[in-house]
Amino acid sequence: MDAKAKKTALRGITYGLYIVGTKDENGTANAFAGNWLTQTSFNPPLVAVAVKVGTRSQEQIAKSGVFSVNILETGQKDMVTAFFKSLEPEGNKLAGYEFYTEETGCPIFKDALSFFECKVVEKVEKGDHYIYVGEVINAGVHREGDPLTLKETGFYYGG
Ligand SMILES: Cc1cc2nc3c(=O)[nH]c(=O)nc-3n(C[C@H](O)[C@H](O)[C@H](O)COP(=O)(O)O)c2cc1C
Repeated sequence: MDAKAKKTALRGITYGLYIVGTKDENGTANAFAGNWLTQTSFNPPLVAVAVKVGTRSQEQIAKSGVFSVNILETGQKDMVTAFFKSLEPEGNKLAGYEFYTEETGCPIFKDALSFFECKVVEKVEKGDHYIYVGEVINAGVHREGDPLTLKETGFYYGG
């Protein structure tokens, strides 16, 4: 295989960029920025997310069996950038952004456009990211707006 072509072609996949919320065994909130996320079924509503093996987030999703997804608005590059590194919550804030919880205990950010929460129903443990398929069990909308895309941030994760 032509490595350059593989990289170029895979980087042609278009993505959003989201904040995925997790929690540890004590219920402490955590979150990371991720773009490897897609809906995979209407009924039941299923979403798949690929999470880097060995990260805190991956271990937390594997143990808790739940995660949240926060849909950001176009222009919220600064917010998403704050979630590329491991974080510790300070009260009800992560990276300075206020969150609350609903069904799963995973963080829901007030500044996001909308969110949904998932219960893991399947996993694929292959490669350097594990895929968690979650059934959407709760969702909410904070305000209307256009979602943030990976392209507008100028970042790449893929190839
Ligand atoms: C543009 C971009 C997209 C990313 N997408 C993903 C992703 O889809 N899945 C993933 O596991 N990590 C992704 N990451 C890396 C995580 O944001 C990063 O590993 C984070 O520190 C994990 O948080 P944790 O250490 O609390 O688990 C991405 C990073 C960047 C810069």
